[in-house]
Amino acid sequence: MQLIPSYTIPELIPAVAGWLYNEWGRHLPGRSVETAEHALRQEPDARGLPTTLIAVEDDEPMGVARLVEFDLDSRPDLGPWLASVFVPGDKRSRGTGTLVCSGIVEVARQRGYPTLYLFTPDRATFYERQGWSSMGHEQHHGGQVTLMKLELGGQGSPTTPAEDGGLP
Ligand SMILES: CC(C)(COP(=O)(O)OP(=O)(O)OC[C@H]1O[C@@H](n2cnc3c(N)ncnc32)[C@H](O)[C@@H]1OP(=O)(O)O)[C@@H](O)C(=O)NCCC(=O)NCCS
Repeated sequence: MQLIPSYTIPELIPAVAGWLYNEWGRHLPGRSVETAEHALRQEPDARGLPTTLIAVEDDEPMGVARLVEFDLDSRPDLGPWLASVFVPGDKRSRGTGTLVCSGIVEVARQRGYPTLYLFTPDRATFYERQGWSSMGHEQHHGGQVTLMKLELGGQGSPTTPAEDGGLP
């Protein structure tokens, strides 16, 4: 299985956009499969944002995860975020979810970010097994989510060029 940046494999984007729309987007106003496809076609900027990695096996998408600048409305002060972690139901429990997460962690580490964040309504244990720790709870779209962080043990400052405005 390979982890491949989504913008380099446009032929796989419609399927993956469908997963993300069905899992999260259809509950949100203004979202469509097309907005999900647009997000997956984006090339990372100089800060690596956004990065979307698709796990691919035999030319078939097996899972996805993203590195994004903002994810949780109530915490615009934190970032970047591991987001959109998804593996289709029939492909789960084979390590793919862990693999796509570790791919994004590696991208964030290489970019020099000191800390990566995520939130999850119900999969905190899945992330704890990968070294993440809880920072407490937040409200999100009327429900409670666990806010989590992973210290990347990096150089302390991101490779972000100052003229890009730095991290949020
Ligand atoms: C969460 C999610 C991404 C996990 O994907 P996955 O491919 O099943 O992840 P992994 O296989 O790496 O690990 C999942 C489980 O398989 C087990 N596992 C890991 N590697 C394994 C392997 N090689 N063989 C068998 N089982 C394995 C893990 O112990 C884990 O156990 P759990 O079900 O108790 O958590 C997937 O369930 C999903 O897409 N869920 C819906 C969306 C979602 O909740 N995303 C997270 C939002 S915060």
